[in-house]
Amino acid sequence: MEKHITVIKGDGIGPEIVNEAIKVLERIAEKHHHTFHYQEVLAGGCAIDAYGTSLTDEVLQACIDSDSVLLGAVGGPKWDQVDPSIRPEKALLGIRKGMGLYANLRPASILKQLAHTSPLRKDIVDQGIDFMVVRELISGVYFGDKKTYEENNELVACDQMIYREHEIRRIAHTAFQTARKRNKHVISVDKANVLDTSRLWRKIVHEVAQEYPDVELSDMLVDNCAMQIVKNPAQFDVVVTENMFGDILSDEASMITGSIGLIPSASLGESNTGMYEPIHGSAPDIAGQNIANPIGTILAAAMMLKYSFDMAEESDEITAAVNEVLSAGYRTVDIMEEGCEQLTCSQMGDKITSYIK
Ligand code: IPM
Ligand code: MG
Repeated sequence: MEKHITVIKGDGIGPEIVNEAIKVLERIAEKHHHTFHYQEVLAGGCAIDAYGTSLTDEVLQACIDSDSVLLGAVGGPKWDQVDPSIRPEKALLGIRKGMGLYANLRPASILKQLAHTSPLRKDIVDQGIDFMVVRELISGVYFGDKKTYEENNELVACDQMIYREHEIRRIAHTAFQTARKRNKHVISVDKANVLDTSRLWRKIVHEVAQEYPDVELSDMLVDNCAMQIVKNPAQFDVVVTENMFGDILSDEASMITGSIGLIPSASLGESNTGMYEPIHGSAPDIAGQNIANPIGTILAAAMMLKYSFDMAEESDEITAAVNEVLSAGYRTVDIMEEGCEQLTCSQMGDKITSYIK
């Protein structure tokens, strides 16, 4: 098969980690006789430096026209003071919206080799952590009207939180379909005791649930969910929630796994074209030192093969290689432990590549 991948290396450690993911993709291409074409484009802080804005129309178009987007990370302190309308993060939001990527899948699972890196108590971790956060990605308070104005001699700021039925319905379908391939339990997270958007959310999610009688549905308030994630994470299979709750809960979920550098994410819409990235940020403090953990990005590339290219076997080979490398005791510095061998970012990429036989 032949696929066109738009590559956004981005800022900070972005270029280093994306290079390793491409190494792995090239090994897969060679083994399975695929051809991957990479079109490298600038978005985020580096695009502000080059073009004066974090996302140009041409770059967005390149993303839309390709078979998928692989992204490292964007942002950094260098651009903290730029105008909010062109901030690096705007590039992410613009690509999500422009490509219609309404569903963000963020797995939170703990590999047994790394269970001790979790900040949670051992008896909690031992019950298992393996769930998927399905976050609505292109509506809610992120995309409602915003304004800052003056009233009675003081500044007032307002961000509108908005949800339309169809926006809730389509993400609910994603959640139930995801649950069907897992343990068939969806927990829908909202703040229905306070917010109208949440009351609509709950109503629509329950309507959609009628079409999935084989999947169990429960509701949970977001503050309780934040507690339950640290108290009893084993209860979760699929968590579906609105944009900002999902932003916050997915960070919490990744943290309890203890290895944020290992977690990928997929952003999907109606078409097969998606955007794939690690969930961690651009880590400007360690950029350029060849010590970042490329595994999150490598697993993001694996998700791309599975969800966008229909290459499940190839995807599983990458995941298996990552597991074997960790089992064999190879680590990057962020997850280093006694008795293991520490590798640089590029050595880790080479090692994983070499385990794809
Ligand atoms: C994320 C990030 C982004 C978000 C930021 C960088 C805009 O935190 O992908 O979770 O809030 O969606
Ligand atoms: Mg976030």
